[in-house]
Amino acid sequence: MTDIAFILNGTPLSVSAEPTRTLLDFLREDRGLTGTKEGCNEGDCGACTVMVADETGPRALNACLLFLPQLQGKEVRTVEGLAAPDGRLHPVQRAMIDEHGSQCGFCTPGIVMSLAVAHATGCRDHDDTLAGNLCRCTGYAPIIRAAQAAETEPQPHWLPSFTLPQISSGGTVSGGSPSPGGAVANARPAGGHGGADSPPAAASRPTSVEELARLYEARPEATLIAGATDVGLWVTKELRDLPTPIFLGAIPELRRIDDEDGQLRVGAMVTIAELRAALAPRLPAFAELLRRFASVQIRNAATIGGNIANGSPIGDTPPALIALGATLHLRRGEERRSLPIEAFFLDYRKQDRRPGEFVEAVTIPTEAPGLRCYKLSKRFDQDISAVCGCFNIGLDEGHVVSARVAFGGMAGIPKRASAVEAGLIGRPWTLATLEAARPAFAEDFTPLSDMRASAAYRLEAAANMLTRVFHDLDGGRVSVLEVGA
Ligand SMILES: Cc1cc2nc3c(=O)[nH]c(=O)nc-3n(C[C@H](O)[C@H](O)[C@H](O)COP(=O)(O)OP(=O)(O)OC[C@H]3O[C@@H](n4cnc5c(N)ncnc54)[C@H](O)[C@@H]3O)c2cc1C
Ligand code: FES
Ligand code: FES
Repeated sequence: MTDIAFILNGTPLSVSAEPTRTLLDFLREDRGLTGTKEGCNEGDCGACTVMVADETGPRALNACLLFLPQLQGKEVRTVEGLAAPDGRLHPVQRAMIDEHGSQCGFCTPGIVMSLAVAHATGCRDHDDTLAGNLCRCTGYAPIIRAAQAAETEPQPHWLPSFTLPQISSGGTVSGGSPSPGGAVANARPAGGHGGADSPPAAASRPTSVEELARLYEARPEATLIAGATDVGLWVTKELRDLPTPIFLGAIPELRRIDDEDGQLRVGAMVTIAELRAALAPRLPAFAELLRRFASVQIRNAATIGGNIANGSPIGDTPPALIALGATLHLRRGEERRSLPIEAFFLDYRKQDRRPGEFVEAVTIPTEAPGLRCYKLSKRFDQDISAVCGCFNIGLDEGHVVSARVAFGGMAGIPKRASAVEAGLIGRPWTLATLEAARPAFAEDFTPLSDMRASAAYRLEAAANMLTRVFHDLDGGRVSVLEVGA
């Protein structure tokens, strides 16, 4: 059991729980807060959306993929805690009624919580806000109308005031109101973490990289838990026990983004949402690709470190990182090493990571005006890639002077297209060159057929992406492929 202190709907709580107990089960089964619904229990439907606030401001998160220790020192607000104690409704609740935004009502609490976070942070992109909230009977038009109607209403005074997270000039992710209702913001779970010399604990929550390095070297069998958007499913779907979980959420160094001579050094615990914000002014094509990464709720939890470390052949950040020539930084105990990111992916789900070694950071070059990224999936929102292609093409006087091309979904690992690159470099940037390079895709890749796409489709789609780069670079536009097959 692990002790956790957090605030629930304004009330400080101290609970002792299994470290892999999800917030959703805790709310519904232990607290009787059944407004938060269980739909898919795997991060897809948004019926379980809650508001979680910390020093970076409020975020919409899926309660089904949140383990209780991830909430240490934070504030959770559920749909039961949104209206005023005297019954006055939050503006988005009022607008949902006025605009007839609910029928069966099953999705409604999750939708209301997503809209309440967007209202608190001033986000006006309602389509994106709701990409992770499925409604099957009302339809989205009245819900969007409700979101728009609430836009001009002030933040209710009975909720803590929040501000948006910032990336400071020094690069650190920071900001927001300091610990809304933060009585327990720095509280540590009694017995909830320890160094290698401490007695074994149910769950560890190191607070520095040094402590993590010592702990993981001593217990390499432990499960590292970052945002839990993959690991959560091991528990909710595969019903696995996780021996010795180590939660990475309390290590400030891992949450840093530092500008190092024009390159960004991004800590492993930086979320996809934070990374997207940092990349937007520097690498808009990569940032746009991240808009296609799952949904707001998942992007608010999922980390860059988790996306790299899980070694998925269809993860969205590795192809872009390979195309950019990013460097991965690993650490085991006192030992640190760095390697080109493509060298990390050895074989299907096999990475160059030794027992007790963890991802500390990744350094991303940001000078890449020719970068273009395309994600091909069956749905625009909240869908895993069938093929993800990233192209970093350097042109000079109509000729290709450099090319780094990488794909996800085309092999058992995220992989560089070396034969395609060789077919481009030194040649004129013309459609004839691209046509001549097409057969090289079959040299680089022997894709699989699966439920997302057939092998033949993948090969053809990947080659077509090269043609798309040609037209996109011609116009100097940044775009992502909008709709899949
Ligand atoms: C509904 C849904 C939609 C999704 N959509 C997408 C999508 O569009 N694109 C995409 O790429 N992925 C998607 N994913 C997968 C997932 O969100 C990502 O892979 C995510 O980046 C994982 O990060 P995390 O922080 O949640 O990792 P976790 O689940 O915490 O960990 C994942 C793995 O990495 C290990 N790990 C974590 N951090 C470290 C570290 N610092 N060092 C070493 N090992 C570490 C863990 O032990 C575990 O093995 C989706 C998942 C869900 C549930
Ligand atoms: S229950 Fe569907 S996202 Fe959590
Ligand atoms: S109101 Fe029924 S699913 Fe949305």
